[in-house]
Amino acid sequence: MRLQSKVFIFFACLFLLLVLQWVFFITYEHRIFTSEMQEKGTLVADNLAEISRDPIINYQFSRLIMQIQSIQQQSDIDHISIVDSRNQVLADTREAVEGWFFSGPLTEETTVEFRHDTMLVRSPIRMFGSLIGNVEILFSLDAYNQKLRTSTMIFLFFLFFEILISVLFGIFTEFQLVKPLDQLTSQVTNITSQSLDHPIELAAGSVPEITRVAQAIDLMKSNLQQAQQEIVIKTRMATMGKIAANFAHEIRNPLEAISGSVEILSYHIDEALPEFEYLSIIREEIDTLNDYLENFLEFSRQQPVNRRPVDMNSLISSTLLLLRPVYAKKRIHCYTDLSPLLPELPADAGQIKRVLINIMLNSIEAIDESGDEAHRQLKVMSRQDADQAVITIEDSGCGIAPEALGQVFEPYFTTKQNGSGIGLAISNQIIERHGGTLGIESAPGMGSTVTVRLPIDTEFTHAEE
Ligand SMILES: Nc1ncnc2c1ncn2[C@@H]1O[C@H](COP(=O)(O)OP(=O)(O)OP(=O)(O)O)[C@@H](O)[C@H]1O
Ligand SMILES: [Mg+2]
Repeated sequence: MRLQSKVFIFFACLFLLLVLQWVFFITYEHRIFTSEMQEKGTLVADNLAEISRDPIINYQFSRLIMQIQSIQQQSDIDHISIVDSRNQVLADTREAVEGWFFSGPLTEETTVEFRHDTMLVRSPIRMFGSLIGNVEILFSLDAYNQKLRTSTMIFLFFLFFEILISVLFGIFTEFQLVKPLDQLTSQVTNITSQSLDHPIELAAGSVPEITRVAQAIDLMKSNLQQAQQEIVIKTRMATMGKIAANFAHEIRNPLEAISGSVEILSYHIDEALPEFEYLSIIREEIDTLNDYLENFLEFSRQQPVNRRPVDMNSLISSTLLLLRPVYAKKRIHCYTDLSPLLPELPADAGQIKRVLINIMLNSIEAIDESGDEAHRQLKVMSRQDADQAVITIEDSGCGIAPEALGQVFEPYFTTKQNGSGIGLAISNQIIERHGGTLGIESAPGMGSTVTVRLPIDTEFTHAEE
């Protein structure tokens, strides 16, 4: 059964219950009051009949009158009559009817008769078993009716508010709970790979809990999308790995043979001849092809991480020394700001050095040597941030366009004429294998900042290996 129907049934039952409660209380109160009045009336009439017996047989009518007058002081008595066996009025609180004859038979038993707003109680007066008269008391029910009306008003007042609150709560439930839940359910059931981008839409005013669930689902969707993209990249990489292995096998050997043959040929050709020039071109192109194959293989092969304690600052300095001829050639000013407090961390020095070379070469390549001095800067920093070593490589080069920034870690993404687009992909892979992260921030014309974060904790266990 749908939640909406359940909520409707719940409120219908609640409404019915409230009305039944009201009817029950009013009926119950009426019954209690009636029985109380009946008891009281019977008691008063029977007592009066008892004490009236002597004055009747002794003809002491003034005593009778005194008795009924003292009883009538009770506020709810309208009038009292005492009649003899002929139904002649002997005493009556209404003086005018004294001596009159009432019609109808005398009562043998005490009777109580309710009329609209009065209660008539009649009680027999007996002498040695014979009926010698009747007592008749008429009680007014005005006070009782007034009380009942007040109770009814109070009950109605509460019933009105109970129903009002129930209706308001019903409206709240419908618009803030049931409807948004319906929307959430239909959108979650209809999630497709195309709709992963679209956030869940809920009607305004839904309860914060449902909004939070929708936000959590949106987050899950974006994580799923990210995971999907990662799977696609990983699958592509795995396929490439297999292709690479075959390529390496199929191309390397002929390349070796070509290279060897060129080498032999070069011994037999005079260096002065133009053909020797062609041989050099062939040798260079073979080297380029070999480099390409090397890169391809390295990316697709999952190199194991050979951890040793590494002094990052020394590694940075030695890498910069290695690249010095390259950046010096482009008149790049290189600065370092290395924290001496940075502890050694468990890493594969060879692999991290490759990462640093890739990143620094990118920076050097991004800098235009004909630019002014402010645009020929390279800064390398190291520091500790909690349990991580942070290495930042900052350049004042051309920067990266926003649409390209999201792709720079993808294998074979390059904006360079001679780039293979594998440098950052390999670097990212190496840093991930070390349990760290690689990030890049850049804007066109504003330079780029690459941040490498590596865990310092020696207890760190590698997730992938
Ligand atoms: N510091 C940087 N400044 C500007 N662009 C950069 C920088 N670092 C990376 N890029 C951009 O990211 C792309 C990918 O870089 P990556 O190092 O992966 O490949 P590549 O440098 O093109 O080729 P290679 O495989 O030879 O390194 C580059 O082509 C370039 O567009
Ligand atoms: Mg590069």
